[in-house]
Amino acid sequence: MFSPQTEEKFSKLVSRYPSKRSALIPMLLFAQDEKGPLTGEIVDYVARYLHLTPLEVEEVISFYSMLTKKPRGKFHLQVCTNISCMLRGADKIWERVKEKTGLKPGQVSADGVVSIEEVECMGACTTAPALQVNYDFYENLTVERVDQLLEDLGRRKGPDTSPDSEQMESSPRRRHDAEHPRATRLLTAGMAAKDSRSLENFLAREGYQTAEKVLKSMNADQIIEEVKKSGLRGRGGAGFSTGMKWGFVPRQSPKPKYLVCNADESEPGTCKDRPLLEYDPHQLIEGMIIAARALECHQAYIYIRGEYRYLFNIVSRAVEEAYARGFLGKNIFGSGWNLELATHTGAGAYICGEETALLESLEGKRGYPRIKPPFPAVVGLYGCPTVVNNVETLSAIPHILKNGGEWYAKFGPEKNGGTRLFSVSGHVERPGNYEVPMGTTLRTLIEDFAGGVRQGHQLKAIIPGGSSTPILTADKIDTPLTFEDIAKAGSMLGSGAVIVMDETTCIVNVARVLTRFYAHESCGWCVPCREGTVWMRKIFNRYHDGFGRKEDIDLLDSVAKKILGHTHCPLGDASAMPVISAIKNFRSEFEEHLKLGACPLEKNLVAV
Ligand SMILES: Cc1cc2nc3c(=O)[nH]c(=O)nc-3n(C[C@H](O)[C@H](O)[C@H](O)COP(=O)(O)O)c2cc1C
Repeated sequence: MFSPQTEEKFSKLVSRYPSKRSALIPMLLFAQDEKGPLTGEIVDYVARYLHLTPLEVEEVISFYSMLTKKPRGKFHLQVCTNISCMLRGADKIWERVKEKTGLKPGQVSADGVVSIEEVECMGACTTAPALQVNYDFYENLTVERVDQLLEDLGRRKGPDTSPDSEQMESSPRRRHDAEHPRATRLLTAGMAAKDSRSLENFLAREGYQTAEKVLKSMNADQIIEEVKKSGLRGRGGAGFSTGMKWGFVPRQSPKPKYLVCNADESEPGTCKDRPLLEYDPHQLIEGMIIAARALECHQAYIYIRGEYRYLFNIVSRAVEEAYARGFLGKNIFGSGWNLELATHTGAGAYICGEETALLESLEGKRGYPRIKPPFPAVVGLYGCPTVVNNVETLSAIPHILKNGGEWYAKFGPEKNGGTRLFSVSGHVERPGNYEVPMGTTLRTLIEDFAGGVRQGHQLKAIIPGGSSTPILTADKIDTPLTFEDIAKAGSMLGSGAVIVMDETTCIVNVARVLTRFYAHESCGWCVPCREGTVWMRKIFNRYHDGFGRKEDIDLLDSVAKKILGHTHCPLGDASAMPVISAIKNFRSEFEEHLKLGACPLEKNLVAV
């Protein structure tokens, strides 16, 4: 049914996992890449291949937004209108795409060439506004560039957007790590070179030497001790001590142990793992080798969000290169240690960034979060002890083991060791990913690194840690970027995504866009989250359009507070916190909408 190349991909996939079912999501994606919509025939084929029922395959297809049973054009345009893109004019881009193509969302042009879709965050926040043509990113868009792109597609002069296109991997359109003379180059040290992702370049930077030394001279306890000393706290969002987490894995367990790198990066505003994967994949692999030794684990996976397909290709190639040199596989560096490492692709579901949902997804299921405890360190992938760590966390490990935990800790203040890569997006002069020591203030990051609020405008609000963290008022700009200081200021450091808003921003609209995202991404398992996010979305839509009612403000606050703390996983909290903080810190703006019967900042809206 499929080409020999796709069949080969299928058989390689299946060999990567102890359970065949784990291959399901990537297999469906590869099947779709070749054949288009996932027809009943494809479902039956995949089900037979993996010894599943067609129903088990169908329930997975209906969960992931990138898997589809509907036809698409040869060029499928997906325009992001989530927060960072919205702040930089995504609505105009989306309107232009609809106007120029004459298509409605989901429609395919009569000649089958183009289809369009409005999508949530795709991880191009510092290069917003952005769209994807199939898997290919187009960033820093203007209306003129959209016109040009659509003309090219119309004349079928479009780029090679096949999933394995090399053009996509080296696209000059991107550059999302921002150069700055005062940046602390630790994790981003190697990125300046043009060929930084190549193994040769990595080896020239003493790459893999630390892993070799560690494997030949340190035991698990010694590695964990060094990581504890470093004060490294997880860069995925929760900020848990990495050394402590590693220490929870029961060493005596007779079961296999797993290490999983979380490269799902889907929190709106966040795109800092992208440059680490794109420009320095070997740094991550070296970190994973050391982590695996500390956990006494012999099998590791890198779970990469589906939209980052070109990164899946780049990282997969880096893994192959590492195998070819004996840095992965059996008897690494002649140390007697074995480690198998495989890349895995998601298929569009924010919830799969949550570690237990990620593990479900890696097992080939819908991404429903698991109830904790037990925590993954004890019962994780396939019911075995598992550590899930973020890309940035693991990329820091070689530096810690090379220079010592104390050296790393000294970059930041107490309990906040090291540097961190912050994605600064929104209304700043120079959006970008900036590496700075922990404890740097929001002011330094925004004004010195990101060039300050765009010219002629004033700061109004900051989201300091990704879309799920409470919105801060401008007077909090002198807060240091530590977990504790940002909490004291009333928010969370989260995923390190700093979203900057100036006085032209309507906070009601910001809360509306964020609520739309959480309503879209709720997995539907917990009633407060499933129903509450949709209620809030409906209220916000009419409220922002000028059809608000007096009681809506307290109603929104009350719905959000009924979600907060009442769901199995923190997605519910994530949806509630921006709303509660918007009402608390910007209530007068909500009231003004009521008074005017319209958005005070978008006077073109119809007043009633
Ligand atoms: C809804 C939700 C989404 C998340 N998304 C991500 C993500 O995209 N990437 C990530 O590393 N962690 C994400 N996390 C955090 C993970 O659950 C987990 O804490 C993290 O991967 C652990 O790695 P760390 O200790 O290195 O931070 C998310 C958590 C929640 C609740």
